[in-house]
Amino acid sequence: METKRSIIITGGAGFIGSHVVRLLVNKYPDYRIINVDKLTYAGNLENLKDIEGKPNYRFVRMDICDFDGILALMREEKVDGIIHLAAESHVDRSIKDPFTFARTNVIGTLSLLQAARTYWEEQKEGYEGKRFYHISTDEVYGALEMTSPEGIEPPFTTRASSGKKHLAYGTRFFTEDMKYQPHSPYSASKASSDHFVRAFHDTYGMPTIVTNCSNNYGPYQFPEKLIPLFINNICQRRPLPVYGKGENVRDWLYVEDHARAIDVIFHRGQVAETYNIGGFNEWKNIDIIKVLIQTTDRLLGREENEDVGLITYVTDRAGHDLRYAIDSSKLQRELGWEPSLQFEEGIEKTVSWYLANGEWMRRITSGEYEKYYDEMYSGR
Ligand code: NAD
Ligand code: TYD
Repeated sequence: METKRSIIITGGAGFIGSHVVRLLVNKYPDYRIINVDKLTYAGNLENLKDIEGKPNYRFVRMDICDFDGILALMREEKVDGIIHLAAESHVDRSIKDPFTFARTNVIGTLSLLQAARTYWEEQKEGYEGKRFYHISTDEVYGALEMTSPEGIEPPFTTRASSGKKHLAYGTRFFTEDMKYQPHSPYSASKASSDHFVRAFHDTYGMPTIVTNCSNNYGPYQFPEKLIPLFINNICQRRPLPVYGKGENVRDWLYVEDHARAIDVIFHRGQVAETYNIGGFNEWKNIDIIKVLIQTTDRLLGREENEDVGLITYVTDRAGHDLRYAIDSSKLQRELGWEPSLQFEEGIEKTVSWYLANGEWMRRITSGEYEKYYDEMYSGR
């Protein structure tokens, strides 16, 4: 039997956050799950329609920078855990507007840490039984090169230290002890927030954990990111804007596997530790785009590869990181977590979900989703 807990999940109306909220609300009926989200353009309460009436769930519209509001909420709900996902998350937006990223990702995280510190230090048991879990990205480590053992063309088969065999585009991987070398304003702001979280452990003894995850994909992702944007564009027969030559490599993880990892780490992870989360699943953008076209066309009953002509090479993203590749051996070894889905299965599920949920997508692209909060929550 689990002990009862009262947990704030920040950014729970976003892509990954909504999966974490759903998992914990359904799995732990004795827990109180409080979703704190400002509802920026990326927050969509329609992602949580299926659980919004559950008795162990509460939504609070609040900015994480609102120190007094967060502190009052922690006192009211006797919060003993925070799982922090709220962030500005899109690299392209960070290039246009870096200040918003510094405000939410850096100042917001600091404000949340300080509110948690204030409340937990008021308790007679102090930090005992408390946990501040910060969700971060592999992008803080910078970019990896594409290198291969002599005479072998990437991708080549290699083995992780856990023994797991996988395809790779380079010989180096992001490990937990790697130096931070962020390149985009987004990754710089996430790196800074990671440092603040660790500083609160080292300085005040706050029980913190940080995880750094690779690119996620799956249902409910905002259609500014590669996979949902391209599925929607293929459906609408709109151009598919491939940055540069499409040669950049990303390591993709199905979002429900990330949510499962977060559950495992929140409950069993070691305080002050960092865990990298990834699927050993590297893909060149152009290859993933071809898989998306093939799968979407097939599921729509179109001719195979009918929409390849939509591929449009456009100017590269400034400072575009060449390759991300996570080594998640530590998490596998220490906590027994592994991705559950093969990529082919995950992509099939993802494309099928977007095709079956055209109304969800339509309400986002029309802007109607932003009215949902006023219709459903104001006056509650
Ligand atoms: P998202 O953009 O889909 O959602 C972010 C959520 O945070 C939204 O609901 C938004 O309304 C909320 N938010 C933004 N600013 C806020 C503020 N000031 N106060 C309160 N709420 C605010 O993001 P995502 O893709 O679900 O990412 C969630 C977290 O996971 C982020 O911290 C991100 O850095 C990290 N991450 C994402 C990925 C990925 O592939 N998407 C990979 C690794 C790590
Ligand atoms: P994205 O989904 O924005 O995630 P991230 O930048 O955090 O990795 O982009 C994934 C990859 O796809 C990245 O290499 C940039 C590329 N990309 C395009 O080529 N075209 C697009 O329209 C987008 C949004 C991304």
